[in-house]
Amino acid sequence: MIPLSVPNLNGNEWRYIKECLDTNWVSSAGAFVDRFEREFAAYVGAPYAVSTSNGTAALHIALLLAGVAHKNLVIVPNITFAASLNSIAYTGAEPLLIDVDAGTWQMDTPLLEEFLLQHAEMRGNTCHLRATGQVIKAIMPVHVLGNMVNMSHLMQLAQQYRITVVEDSTEALGSYYNNKHAGTFGQTGCFSFNGNKIMTTGGGGMIVTADATLAKHAKHLTTQAKTDPVEYIHDEVGYNYRLVNLLAAMGVAQLEQIPAFLTRKHQIAQRYNRAFAHLPFVQPQVTTTGTQPNHWLYTVQVPDRRSLLAFFKGHGIETRPLWTPMNQLPMFANCRYITQNNVSGYLFERCLSLPCSTGLTTEEQDTVINLLTDFYGN
Ligand SMILES: Cc1ncc(COP(=O)(O)O)c(C=O)c1O
Repeated sequence: MIPLSVPNLNGNEWRYIKECLDTNWVSSAGAFVDRFEREFAAYVGAPYAVSTSNGTAALHIALLLAGVAHKNLVIVPNITFAASLNSIAYTGAEPLLIDVDAGTWQMDTPLLEEFLLQHAEMRGNTCHLRATGQVIKAIMPVHVLGNMVNMSHLMQLAQQYRITVVEDSTEALGSYYNNKHAGTFGQTGCFSFNGNKIMTTGGGGMIVTADATLAKHAKHLTTQAKTDPVEYIHDEVGYNYRLVNLLAAMGVAQLEQIPAFLTRKHQIAQRYNRAFAHLPFVQPQVTTTGTQPNHWLYTVQVPDRRSLLAFFKGHGIETRPLWTPMNQLPMFANCRYITQNNVSGYLFERCLSLPCSTGLTTEEQDTVINLLTDFYGN
């Protein structure tokens, strides 16, 4: 069995977690929480970082910080994991779906520009959808599979229309656009440390921002909005979205290994790219110009991923399609979907992620390469 992507826990995880157990600091406060936030902020080059229980919680809080409220619209790509849209739904706002680019599989920013030009209007400093009058409050670019959205274009549109940017960088730790780390373009950037991400805390997330007031508010909201710990006074509806010290300890240990993980991911991607270069039916994801991706999940576009997935499964190899496009899910089927050719639907039928754990051996890579080559050779 070759799994798709599994954690690599060969650093100081045991040592740091043991330190929590030995000192009795296992729960919602402790030195590792502060240390993980400080070191994570330094790694991505953001002034502030606030840890959360998972990436979905990070997105939810980031949207609240942006002032997203009931009936507002939030622009989001049609290809993403459902958690991006769930976090929007938690606020009572509606996702406005934008189709993706056929090569990079990221939000199609020229399509977004055209949409805003045709259908948005400014009323003072707020952008509204002309047809309904709804406020377009935020854009959530998602850096799908660790490749990145064209952030120059997206930020230019966001500034022009005064729309707040909340980056879903959950898959993009270690990815850079024009030498700037994912998640540091918008008002906030959100990360996930679930089991299959480039680093893991088992479950966990992070919000980064350059705004001290927002960072303070994020901490307040994620810790039940308590203002007086003795009298238990809370000044707004808060959330129990903390990352516990035990998991932050694991985060510190994993973050130490991030450079090594990125090197491995890069090597695997390069090797696959070289092997598939002569297979006309196999097209890897196109890297967005100016992007240095983290190669989180190595993914190819093939004529029929369903039969390829079944073939790999028959050989004990785990692969994974892209997520079902958001407009095809029942709870989001009524959302506005801006598209010309439904590229999302096309890619959903054709894209497949291949095994790419940082611990994947050369022999295992060869097995994947040979099977895929055989499949199309036939
Ligand atoms: C694009 C995207 N958004 C949001 C999330 C949510 O993160 P989490 O699973 O940590 O809640 C994930 C990962 O699972 C994701 O891939």
